[in-house]
Amino acid sequence: MRHYNEAFSAYWHPVAFSQELGERPLAARLLETDLVVWRTGQGVAASQRYCAHRGADLRDGQPTADGIRCAFHGWTYGADGRCVRIPSQPGVAVPPRAALASFRATERYGLVWVCLAPAPAAPLPEWPELEDNSVATVALPLLDWDVSAGRMVEVILDVAHLSWVHDGTFGNPAQEEVPPYDVEARPDGVRAQIVYPALSPSIGGAPPRVDRTTLTYEVTWPFAVKLAFKPTLFYVHTVYAIASPVSEEKMRCFYFCSYHPRLRAHFPDMFLKSEQAILEQDRRVLEGVRPRAHPTSFAGEIFTKADRLPAEYRRGVIAIRQGRAPADGGPLPE
Ligand code: FES
Ligand SMILES: [Fe+2]
Repeated sequence: MRHYNEAFSAYWHPVAFSQELGERPLAARLLETDLVVWRTGQGVAASQRYCAHRGADLRDGQPTADGIRCAFHGWTYGADGRCVRIPSQPGVAVPPRAALASFRATERYGLVWVCLAPAPAAPLPEWPELEDNSVATVALPLLDWDVSAGRMVEVILDVAHLSWVHDGTFGNPAQEEVPPYDVEARPDGVRAQIVYPALSPSIGGAPPRVDRTTLTYEVTWPFAVKLAFKPTLFYVHTVYAIASPVSEEKMRCFYFCSYHPRLRAHFPDMFLKSEQAILEQDRRVLEGVRPRAHPTSFAGEIFTKADRLPAEYRRGVIAIRQGRAPADGGPLPE
């Protein structure tokens, strides 16, 4: 079994929303590694957070044309991490040890992504609809929860919790049974679709309405989920949740939603409020779950047919921990 940080270091994880990263560098923490990210003029760069000279916090540094300049003594590091300037010693060669650990960084879907390993094991998720202007998007405030990224993904994929945890938002307590559903394992993730009789909230004293909503789940390994809600009578809206692993027991989730551009005037506010209420219901349950770490086997918990989607997901994550391809998982629990 590989260490958690090592197993997931070869994947891309988001560390910031693009709009948060302006002219100032930003600090982030990913897989117990403290990072600083900044804009280079050509793109984004990521390196260790603390200066190689005397440990100053590079979040307070200044991005320049040559690289990030430390606020303490002005040493400047390029995007590749090498020190290019030591102002106190002009004309003297920069010692080779004067370097920061630097990491791959890129920007896509309004997020800054970092991969800590030299070679990513998989590309970023493919969400072309976010790049062709066919949908509008709105982001939720960051979700900093005391829960492992894998457990966060599992709760999003959890079909059986909807009628219990989400009572009062969209859950339908009358719908206890989870009818059989198919799960498709793909090389890049897992996919499933269910129809759920969601309850829309009562408006103006009218009784809540049941709307048979099609939920389509698509996971990209290891921690990115796209979940589309298609009610019978309304436009589809889709949530994108990417759980970024801060440590084995803590994640920061980047969560945003796409919706029909025609709804731009009203939808974002309405959506944000209801989505935050739904997520608060999940958080209360999830932060109480033990162990906090995502189990690396099926042994300590019980999976039924209703849990097939989270089980299929966990199988892939266990394979990653074991150093195999996620599509190369062991048997499902029966
Ligand atoms: S601590 Fe950064 S330049 Fe001295
Ligand atoms: Fe939930």
